[in-house]
Amino acid sequence: MPAIVLVGAQWGDEGKGKATDLLGSSVDFVVKFNGGNNAGHTIVIEGERYALHLLPSGILTPGCTPVIANGVVIDLGVLFQELDDLQARGVDTSRLVVSANAHLIASYNRVLDKVGERFLGSRRLGTTGRGIGPTYADKMSRVGIRVQDVFDEGILRQKIEGALENKNQALVKIYNRRAIAVDEVLEEFLTYADRLRPMVRDTGLLLSQALDAGKTVLLEAGQATLLDVDHGTYPFVTSSNAVSAGACTGSGIPPTRVDRVIAVLKAYSTRVGEGPFPTELHDDSGEYLRKTGMEYGTTTGRPRRCGWVDTVVGRYAARVNGVTDFVLTKLDVLTGLDRVPVAVAYDVDGVRHDEMPMTQTEFHHAVPVYESLDGWWEDISDCRSFEDRPANARRYVERVEELVGARISVIGVGPGREATISRHPLLES
Ligand code: IMP
Repeated sequence: MPAIVLVGAQWGDEGKGKATDLLGSSVDFVVKFNGGNNAGHTIVIEGERYALHLLPSGILTPGCTPVIANGVVIDLGVLFQELDDLQARGVDTSRLVVSANAHLIASYNRVLDKVGERFLGSRRLGTTGRGIGPTYADKMSRVGIRVQDVFDEGILRQKIEGALENKNQALVKIYNRRAIAVDEVLEEFLTYADRLRPMVRDTGLLLSQALDAGKTVLLEAGQATLLDVDHGTYPFVTSSNAVSAGACTGSGIPPTRVDRVIAVLKAYSTRVGEGPFPTELHDDSGEYLRKTGMEYGTTTGRPRRCGWVDTVVGRYAARVNGVTDFVLTKLDVLTGLDRVPVAVAYDVDGVRHDEMPMTQTEFHHAVPVYESLDGWWEDISDCRSFEDRPANARRYVERVEELVGARISVIGVGPGREATISRHPLLES
C-alpha cells in the first residue's frame, strides 16, 4: 500500500513529470506501464533540465526504484543511450528494473512506422515515428519479440524470422524498400543482451511484494486519456492504454490494489500530431500560448497545437480514469490575458453536448461553447498558497474544478519543483 496511478487528462504533455517529482521521496517505486520512447517528460530539478523519453521519471529520485513494466515497448538503443546520458551527469541509474515480458521495438518496426505514415498521405496520424504502433500491432498479432527472448538466441532467431516473413514482403512489394536481414536484427538485439540481463525481473511479482511490504508504488502513464487506443480520439491515438485501467494490465497490479488516481490537467490545451481538437486556436492567442508556455515537443521538437482549456475533456478524463485528484499545471502561462475562455460544452450541428459526443463524426463537428472569465495581471509564479493568489486566478481554478467534477489538489505556477501551490496532500485522503 498504496498504489497511485498518474495519468494525463488531455492529449499529453500536461506536465506529469512535475507531479511525479512532487511525490518525490515518498514514492518507493515509479512504474512506466505503457508506451515507449514516444513519451517525453521534462523535469527541472535545481535548475537542471532533464528530458526523458523512455525511462520512468523516478530514475532521478534517489532511493526510488524505476520500473519498466510489461505494458511498455522498449527501444534498447534508446534505453541505453538515456542511461549513458544520465550516468554522465552523475545520476545513479543502477536501480532500474525491466520486465521480462515487455516487448522490444525492432528496426523493422521503426521503418514500418515511417513508411506507413508516408503511405497514408493526408490520412496520416502524425505518429512520433519511433515504431510504437507497429510494435504493439506485433504484440497483438502474437509475432512480437519480448525482453526475455534476447536471452535465448535460438528462439530469438525463430521469432525474428517469423516476424520478417510478412514484413519483408510488405517492405519490398508495397513500400518499395529494401528487405531487412534476420541477422541484422538479431545482432542489434544481442549487442545489448549482457547489459540488459541484470536489470530483468518478474516485475508483476516484484510490485505485488512491494505493496505487501507497505511500499508506495506510483504507476505513471505515458501519453494521455484522449490518446488512449480505446478511450481516445481513435484513430488519432497512440497504440496503448493510457487511462488508469491500463496501469493494471500494463503492470500486473490488480484494480483492487489501486488507492488513488491523479490526473494532470494543463490550464490550457495542447496536442501534437493529427486529429480533432475543438478548442484549438489558429490566431494570435494560440501563438501566445505556444510561445509563453514553450509548447514544443520534448521528443520530436514539433510545435504543439494550442487552445483554451476544455472542461468537457476534463470531465471525461475524471470519469474514465476515476480521478481522485487533479494537478492543474502551467497556470502562470495564462497570466496577462484580459479574458480567459473556458470551454464548458460543445455545439454539435446545433445540439448542445455537455459530455463527449459518442461518435468521431460528432467530435469532428464539435464547436466549443465558452464561458469567458476575467483574467489577471499579477505575477503568480511566487505564490505558494491558494489564498495569496489574485482573486481572478482563484476563480479560474474554482470554476474549472467545478466543471471537471473532481478536486484540484495541486496547482503548478512555474517550471521548478518549488513553483507549486498545494491545496490537498496527494498521498493522504
Ligand atoms: P505514436 O504514439 O508515435 O504512435 O503516435 C500516435 C499519436 O500519439 C500521435 O498523434 C503522436 O503525436 C501522439 N503522441 C504519442 N506520444 C505522445 C506524447 O508523449 N505526448 C503527446 N502526444 C503523443
